[in-house]
Amino acid sequence: MKPNEFPTARRIAAILILSLGALAPAFAQDAAAGRIAWFRDAKLGIFIHFGIYSKGVGSESWAFHDGDTTYEAYMAQASSFTASNYHPDEWARLFAEAGARYAVMTSKHHDGFALWDTSLSKLNAKDASPAGRDLVGPYCEALRGQGLKVGLYFSNLDWSHPDYASVLPPGADRTEAKYRNRFGYPQGPENPEAWKRFLVFHRGQLKEISERFHPDLLWFDGDWERTDEQWGFRELRQQLLAWNPTGIVNGRIGTYGDYLTPEQYLPLVAPKGTWELCATVNDSWGFQAKDHNFKSVRMVVRMLAECAGMGGNLLLDIGPRSDGSIPDEDVAVLRGLGRWTHKNAEAIYGSVAGLPPGYFYGATTLSKAADTLYLFCFDRPNGQVAVKGIRNEIARVSVVGGPELASRKIGGAKWLNMPGVLWIDVPDSALDADATVIKVEMKGPLDLATEPKRQD
Ligand code: GLC
Repeated sequence: MKPNEFPTARRIAAILILSLGALAPAFAQDAAAGRIAWFRDAKLGIFIHFGIYSKGVGSESWAFHDGDTTYEAYMAQASSFTASNYHPDEWARLFAEAGARYAVMTSKHHDGFALWDTSLSKLNAKDASPAGRDLVGPYCEALRGQGLKVGLYFSNLDWSHPDYASVLPPGADRTEAKYRNRFGYPQGPENPEAWKRFLVFHRGQLKEISERFHPDLLWFDGDWERTDEQWGFRELRQQLLAWNPTGIVNGRIGTYGDYLTPEQYLPLVAPKGTWELCATVNDSWGFQAKDHNFKSVRMVVRMLAECAGMGGNLLLDIGPRSDGSIPDEDVAVLRGLGRWTHKNAEAIYGSVAGLPPGYFYGATTLSKAADTLYLFCFDRPNGQVAVKGIRNEIARVSVVGGPELASRKIGGAKWLNMPGVLWIDVPDSALDADATVIKVEMKGPLDLATEPKRQD
C-alpha cells in the first residue's frame, strides 16, 4: 500500500468500526471498554442466597408464589431472621480461602425483602426483622478487605410490591396458566399508572444500592414477567452506568447485560461471549434444612475446570442460615475447593479457553500468551495421557505443583503438517486427589493443527 493510501484506509476502518459499534449489543461495547476484564479473569465467585427464607423450611420466594405456603406464613419467617451470627469478615475469609475472586449476595430476592435499609420500603432487614440493621454495607466492606470484588444480586420483579402485579406483557393471553398468578400479573384490569409507580420504585432502589455500595457487579434476576420495553432496560443500562460507572451487569436485564448466566447445568458448548455458570452446592439456592444432596469437592473442582476450559466462570452458590452462619457442608466444600484452587491457581485464574473438542479428553485452558497449555485430568490416566494436534515444539511438561513429566510425540504425517500425538507419562505418585493438572510449556504460542482438506 502506498503511504498516501493510509488515511483513506484508516477512515474506512474507523467508519466500519463506528458503524459496527452502533449495531453491536451493549455487552460487546462494554467488553471493548475493558470494564469486564477483571470478571473474565476471576473464574470463581461465591453466590449467597440470604434472606427470610434462610430459616430453611422452604424455597426462596417461590414457596409462596407456587402455593407451597401462604404469603403470610412465608413473610412470618422474617421474625426468625436474626443475623445474630452474621460475620461477613469470616465469610470473606472463607471465600478467599476457597479461591473465589468475587461474591454475589442477594440484596433483594423476588419476595421483595431487602437486606439493606432501603428508604423506599419498610420491607427490609432493618425495619422488618430482628436483624435490625443494614446487612449489605458490612458485606461489601468485608469482601473488599479481602481483595474480592463485590457483587449484588437484585430481583427486578418484586412479588410483594403493591404496584408490581399491575400490567401484562403486550398481547398476553390471559387463558395461559402463568397469567393467573396474582403475584406476577393483575387478575383484573391492568393499571399502567401503578406500573409507572413500580418502575420509579425499582429505579429508586437500584440508585440506592449503586450509589451507596458501588457494586463491581450487579447481578440481575427475574426479568421474565415483562418485556424489555416495559422494564425500560435500555434506559436503565445508561442510568446504571451514570450511577456507578465501573460496574458490570449480568445478562438478566433483557438483552442489555455484559455476560450470559447459564444456570444449574454445565454447558455442552461454550456460550457466546463472556459467561458464568451459576450452580448450587446442594440442590437449593437458599438454606434448606432437609437438603443434604451436596456435591463433592471433586465434582465442584470438575465444574470449575470445565467452565474455565470453555472460557467461563463458576458462581458457586451457598445458603447461610437465618442467623448468618454457613452450614458445615458448604464450608467443607469451599475449603476443599480452596486446597485445589490455590495449588492450581496458574491453570485457572487469568486463563482463556483451551483446546476445542477432539484434541484432548478433558478440560484444558491456555495462558493468555497461549504458550502454556493446562490439561485437567479428572480420571486416573492409566500411566499416560495423550494430546493431539500440537505442532509446537514442547519445552517442558510437568504437573502443576508437582514433578516434571516425561513426554514424546509419536507418529504424525509430516507431508500434511499433521503432528504426532503427544504422549505424557503420568505416574500415580504425581496424581492429585481431585484433579491432576498437567502443564505443557510450548515453544511459541499454540500452533494447532486442523483436519487436512484431503482425507485419503
Ligand atoms: C432463578 C430462581 C431464583 C434464583 C436464581 C439464581 O432465577 O428464580 O430463585 O435465585 O435462579 O440464579
